[in-house]
Amino acid sequence: MKYYNKLIFEISKEGRQGFNLTEKNIPEVKIPKELLRVTPAELPEVSEFDVVRHYTNVSQKNFGVETGFYPLGSCTMKYNPKINDELATLSGFANIHPLQPVETVQGLLKIYHETQKILAEISGLAAYSLNPFAGAHGELAGLMIIQAYHDKRHDSKRNKIIIPDSAHGTNPASATVCGFETVEIKSNLDGTVNLEALKAVLNDETAGLMLTNPNTAGVFEKDIAEISRLVHEAGGLLYYDGANLNAILGKTRPGDMGFDITHINLHKTFSTPHGGGGPGSGPVGVCEKLLEFLPNPIVKEKNGFYYFEDSADSIGALGLFYGNASVYIRAYVYLMTFGNESMSDIGLMAVLNANYIKESLKDVFELPIKGHCMHEFVFDGLKDQSTGVKTLDVAKRLLDYGYHAPTVYFPLIFSQSMMIEPTEVESKETLDEFINIMRVVAQEAKDNPELVKTAPHNTIVRRLDEAKAARQPIVKFRDIK
Ligand SMILES: Cc1ncc(COP(=O)(O)O)c(C=O)c1O
Repeated sequence: MKYYNKLIFEISKEGRQGFNLTEKNIPEVKIPKELLRVTPAELPEVSEFDVVRHYTNVSQKNFGVETGFYPLGSCTMKYNPKINDELATLSGFANIHPLQPVETVQGLLKIYHETQKILAEISGLAAYSLNPFAGAHGELAGLMIIQAYHDKRHDSKRNKIIIPDSAHGTNPASATVCGFETVEIKSNLDGTVNLEALKAVLNDETAGLMLTNPNTAGVFEKDIAEISRLVHEAGGLLYYDGANLNAILGKTRPGDMGFDITHINLHKTFSTPHGGGGPGSGPVGVCEKLLEFLPNPIVKEKNGFYYFEDSADSIGALGLFYGNASVYIRAYVYLMTFGNESMSDIGLMAVLNANYIKESLKDVFELPIKGHCMHEFVFDGLKDQSTGVKTLDVAKRLLDYGYHAPTVYFPLIFSQSMMIEPTEVESKETLDEFINIMRVVAQEAKDNPELVKTAPHNTIVRRLDEAKAARQPIVKFRDIK
């Protein structure tokens, strides 16, 4: 196989070593017999050069935002400036012990406090807890707050969360985990909320509505004021899935649209690396009347002193100690780099880039939602469907050209969804190259459909059984047949 590199265990040679420790001046330590190994550790025996070459090769098998264009819709794969990493790994931050007295951690707590305040300002809400570890975790926290709010008012009949069918899969999953019953409502053709469908399900069992705006098809919910009025009138709360905040940064705020609760994906909107399950952070914010329920602890300040405070009516703590400290620091650096004045440039550029790609390709790809989009948009496969080339084939062929595929088959409202989100960080040259390659693939689909249907051809592995790869991954050397 062209791209096969041996595993480090396969290049192991008995007696070969990659270290050279002097035996002088090392005091002998007596290890109790019961703590000694019975069998030798199974470690590869390799030279330093073998190790360097091995890990360099392995690193090149990955694809990341630093490798190439990554237009994965709904994921906001933006560049993480190196200054974020540099500051987050300063020894004063990196070496903090979770049990250190707060007097000795004032710098970090100041960052927490300011980040909480900035997020509240950006989203138009009263306060934030940085506690949750990811977007979906933030959703769970927000839903627990909805539950606590209704319970405290002895209105525990409210056990239904309304979710549009265009929502991200984590929304119904979080609601179910939290013990709510989810009520799905059909969206309009552009993924926006169908007001009649909403009215039909609102009642005295409604705990709340979960929504992202712009929605997962990249369309701004124009009826948001009316939606907010209807939900509140029915006694429910309005939850904002802030994973798409990038599009509206500095332009409009969930709080001003009537949302009571939101989570923000710091690991998307405010850079900080993400993917592969973390590390992430999904701070949760609330309006004034829900303050007491925020997850513990919140960082407060008095006379220049920063400290943790717990609320008796809080839903409790969702993360231990300081949470994902390095993620908050990275997000804080990003926020500071833009400042209040330039924050809206982020959303504007993200929206401009998405519209540029959409308009440049709509003659070859089917555009189900016409007109202006926000930070992302959806194609419904190739315009010419006669060749049988599907969205999955196009996505696989893009890998051959060195691009990460867009999100495919989501949202579920179109059968050949291909969701593209370029983010604000890409240059016009990169966008033009991508547009060109998309056109090349569209042409290939006409001239040589088999080539596209059997792609990828140049990657380490060819087309996988994706369900099997996700559900039964082989992650152990010994299991490789
Ligand atoms: C709209 C939306 N909601 C929620 C999430 C969940 O966020 P996380 O992956 O951090 O749990 C995502 C993730 O991309 C998303 O796009």
